[in-house]
Amino acid sequence: MRLIITNDYDEMSKTAAEIIKEQVNRKANSVLGLATGSTPLGTYRELIKMYKNGEVDFSYVITFNLDEYVGLPDDHPQSYHYFMYENLFNHINIKKENIHIPKGISDDFDRDCRLYDEEIEKFGEIDLQLLGLGVNGHIGFNEPDDYINTKTHIVDLAEETINANKRFFKSIDEVPRKAVTMGLGTIMKSKKILLLASGKNKAKAIKETLNGYLTTDVPSTVLSLHPDATIIIDKDAASLID
Ligand code: F6R
Repeated sequence: MRLIITNDYDEMSKTAAEIIKEQVNRKANSVLGLATGSTPLGTYRELIKMYKNGEVDFSYVITFNLDEYVGLPDDHPQSYHYFMYENLFNHINIKKENIHIPKGISDDFDRDCRLYDEEIEKFGEIDLQLLGLGVNGHIGFNEPDDYINTKTHIVDLAEETINANKRFFKSIDEVPRKAVTMGLGTIMKSKKILLLASGKNKAKAIKETLNGYLTTDVPSTVLSLHPDATIIIDKDAASLID
């Protein structure tokens, strides 16, 4: 794993956006795996700036988001659909038909999860997967567990995740308890992975990610097996690294 430690959140975001821009400029029809949450917001702001400056063109780019809350409709302000349009897609020239986000409402999640994986496979592999990191080491919503789920699936959100994400909702009771997430197998098949983390609350998870062992108690440790994974973190997130 390649480790880049930046001075602060802004530098982390600019570094990540540069790598994504280079990817899209090298391959116009790149398949990008995208994350939501606070961490990639700065990266998305930088990409929007780059697009507006004519430095990057998203018209052939294909995207697959990592996850979505179960039970939230696309137009719910806390849904990841809403987040992606609000914070990125509405501001760049990506085509709507090239955007893929797991559905939070379905009468058959097993079918939809299978179709999501099939859709990714149609494009071959994800060229570049952007990841945030949960305080408990989750990537996507692959929570600590006894086993690794390789494919897109429904997951019970961990208590730490519900607590960490309650800041986005009026009360903790409104935080969905379940989500649909891409599996670790699909994430690991991506050609390139960029994991971002910022802030002291991610320092423990970063230390464990870099410890050099694999454990399903810290799902991000699986990244140590990836041939092209880059971790970009700020000084606070790096504060517990030996
Ligand atoms: C979101 C996702 C999650 C977040 C993680 C960190 O699509 O996949 O793994 O990246 O929970 O969230 P933030 O960035 O809000 O700290």
